[in-house]
Amino acid sequence: MDVALETKSLVKQFGGLRAVDEVSIKVPKKKIVLIIGPNGSGKTTLVNVISGVYKADGGKVYFMGKDITNKPPHVIYRLGLVRTFQIPQPLRKLTVLENVLLGQAYHPGENFLKALIYLSWLKREEELVEKAFKILEFLKLDHLWDQESYKLSGGQLKLLELGRALMADAKMMILDEPIAGVNPTLAHEIFRKIQEIRDKFDVTFLIIEHRLDIALKYVDYVYAMARGRVIAEGPPEEVVNNPVVIEAYIGG
Ligand SMILES: Nc1ncnc2c1ncn2[C@@H]1O[C@H](COP(=O)(O)OP(=O)(O)OP(=O)(O)O)[C@@H](O)[C@H]1O
Ligand SMILES: [Mg+2]
Repeated sequence: MDVALETKSLVKQFGGLRAVDEVSIKVPKKKIVLIIGPNGSGKTTLVNVISGVYKADGGKVYFMGKDITNKPPHVIYRLGLVRTFQIPQPLRKLTVLENVLLGQAYHPGENFLKALIYLSWLKREEELVEKAFKILEFLKLDHLWDQESYKLSGGQLKLLELGRALMADAKMMILDEPIAGVNPTLAHEIFRKIQEIRDKFDVTFLIIEHRLDIALKYVDYVYAMARGRVIAEGPPEEVVNNPVVIEAYIGG
């Protein structure tokens, strides 16, 4: 198995609470791996440690064979491991095209003003604008290119987040609840786009999602977490029908 991302016995503590407790996962290249688990089971904390937002209290993270444990978020981003974030308020005043262009330059962990200065320089770069337009066409957002981003629907904003990651030439994307609050039709479309991105751009995905009715049929492999630990892994149907997993959801 060709592995894109691997964690080994990863630990993150908040005071006495082990939010992530010896978590070891493997994400094969060009696969879509889903993490499920009840509220508070440590899913977001896990991706925060992987993406460098939090420092690990133990264990290791490897990306494309390279030890990236506790590297700063922008370094991890530039290696091609891109975690999408909600587009922050000030950036929603920028147009759809400008937001895609920022994917090239800007990581949420960095200075926003610096990114804007970079953007004014980028604007002269025809090639990058062309690339951004191609991405918008692919996402079917091109007709909205000059709209301010706050005018987009919740689902369109999620697509725009994917567009920014594509602009950054992400090798792997980590998505935390990509269809939360999105209507079912657009939610299916987002997951179809995710599969298309995997197939056309060879991107690997690690996705957290609660809406299993929609997500399950699009993913290759599933990890289930509860209380900071991995309690099951395997093909989607197998994991969701595993009594241990069902018990974790019921037991809370
Ligand atoms: N910054 C923090 N400081 C202290 N405790 C935290 C912090 N972030 C998360 N926690 C705690 O760590 C545990 C795991 O939280 P986390 O957000 O990772 O869960 P989750 O699986 O993403 O849940 P959800 O499905 O609700 O998003 C919870 O008990 C939470 O209260
Ligand atoms: Mg979460």
